[in-house]
Amino acid sequence: MKKAIFQRFILILSLALILSGSIFSVVISNILFDKTESDMLYSVRIADHGLNYNGDMKAQVDSLKKIEGNEATRFTIIDLSGKVIADSDVADSSTMQNHKNREEVKEAMNVGIGYAIRRSETLKESMLYVASLSTNKQYIIRMAVPFSGVGEYAWSLIPAILISIVVTLAISMILANRFARSVTKPLKEIAEEMLKLKEENPDFHFRDYQYEEMNVIAETTMQMSIAVKESMRRIDFERMIRQEFFSNASHELKTPLTSVRGYVELLENDMATDERMKKDFLSRIKKETDNMTNLINDILMISRLETKEAQVLLSEVRICPLVKEVCNSLQPLAKEYQVTLSMNCRPLSMTANIGQLRALFSNLITNAIKYNKPDGKVNVTVTSEGKEIVVVVEDTGVGIPEDSKQRVFERFYRVDKGRSKKVGGTGLGLSIVKHIVGFYNGSIELESKVMEGSKFTVRLPMKQTDPEKIS
Ligand SMILES: Nc1ncnc2c1ncn2[C@@H]1O[C@H](COP(=O)(O)OP(=O)(O)O)[C@@H](O)[C@H]1O
Ligand SMILES: [Mg+2]
Repeated sequence: MKKAIFQRFILILSLALILSGSIFSVVISNILFDKTESDMLYSVRIADHGLNYNGDMKAQVDSLKKIEGNEATRFTIIDLSGKVIADSDVADSSTMQNHKNREEVKEAMNVGIGYAIRRSETLKESMLYVASLSTNKQYIIRMAVPFSGVGEYAWSLIPAILISIVVTLAISMILANRFARSVTKPLKEIAEEMLKLKEENPDFHFRDYQYEEMNVIAETTMQMSIAVKESMRRIDFERMIRQEFFSNASHELKTPLTSVRGYVELLENDMATDERMKKDFLSRIKKETDNMTNLINDILMISRLETKEAQVLLSEVRICPLVKEVCNSLQPLAKEYQVTLSMNCRPLSMTANIGQLRALFSNLITNAIKYNKPDGKVNVTVTSEGKEIVVVVEDTGVGIPEDSKQRVFERFYRVDKGRSKKVGGTGLGLSIVKHIVGFYNGSIELESKVMEGSKFTVRLPMKQTDPEKIS
């Protein structure tokens, strides 16, 4: 890159030098031409005033040449027929060709003054001719000098031009090199600094660069790299969670399958000695398959919530009838666990998916019944606070120890694994609850005291503001 910047810089500079040189020489050449022309015209006019047209013309043009002081200057007197009367460079003008058709002579005859640049065959060089009609209008006085424009001065100019080109090139090479370095060095430093990304906790340091854009590049690159690293970390973390989930799920499925297989083998080998035992084995098999069905349903629910199958159908859900329906369906369970189920509900409604809300209430109330004590109580209240619906599920059950309060929302986490298994738990219920609450931008809070009871408070906004979720 440094080389490329350097090369382009020099190329542009050379082009600029050539262009300015050409413009300069054209302008100078024009000025020179105008100046020489007007000087010559002045000399011709002076000569016209001094000439005695009745005297010896040859002697007069010779002395004009002498006065001019330049060997190469030539004076010619021509009459109106084009005949050369006298020429400072030719001894016998009668031998000379008629000059009537010479461009400058023709022009002088027509308009009084004539110019021409022509190569003189006699002198073998380019000549500038200026011709003027005499004041008595009888003759044309012509003056000629060698003229090759700027070329005439080229030789004397060449050293100066060469020196200025060399000096300019040298200075610009140094400047180009410095400029190229000032651009590439920061980029190199930024790239080197970025290598720190490989470290666990990189500490980036950038100096203040001369060009603001470099500071922006440094800042943006750093932020981008950190963001990439962060998302890689998140992906790794999610992969680990997923792996853990699959291994837990497989393990959870393997346990009931093993016991089902065990009971089937017992039955196959006629180990069930009587009808009662056979029925017992079959009911255990049924219970295990129910557990597996629950587990698979919960896994599917979690997976649907996780893959953000967000286009769930939303409608206005009336909370009271829904809670009542869930409580009614759980009455047999409450009876089985000798728990009294009561509810207190204010008529409220919210935009939601009825299936998700049913799963939310059902999980919380089922837990409150199953992790309870005989003659225990479960109370469900639905109230509102501002624009939120507040659902409280309170029980007088076994409670949750302080150090498990956060963890109960993790997948497959159970405080008492044996008890959970016995009551047909999957360890996924509260994780599902947390997902659903999160889906509606709500919150969940847990207060609990071991052997006294637990209280889950769920807050849900009545209106969903996220347009993606409204269908
Ligand atoms: N109301 C409650 N009272 C006491 N413990 C509870 C209650 N709700 C949940 N838990 C504890 O939290 C664990 C996780 O609950 P959950 O995710 O619903 O799984 P499970 O399938 O075991 O019910 C349960 O195993 C239980 O130990
Ligand atoms: Mg549960």
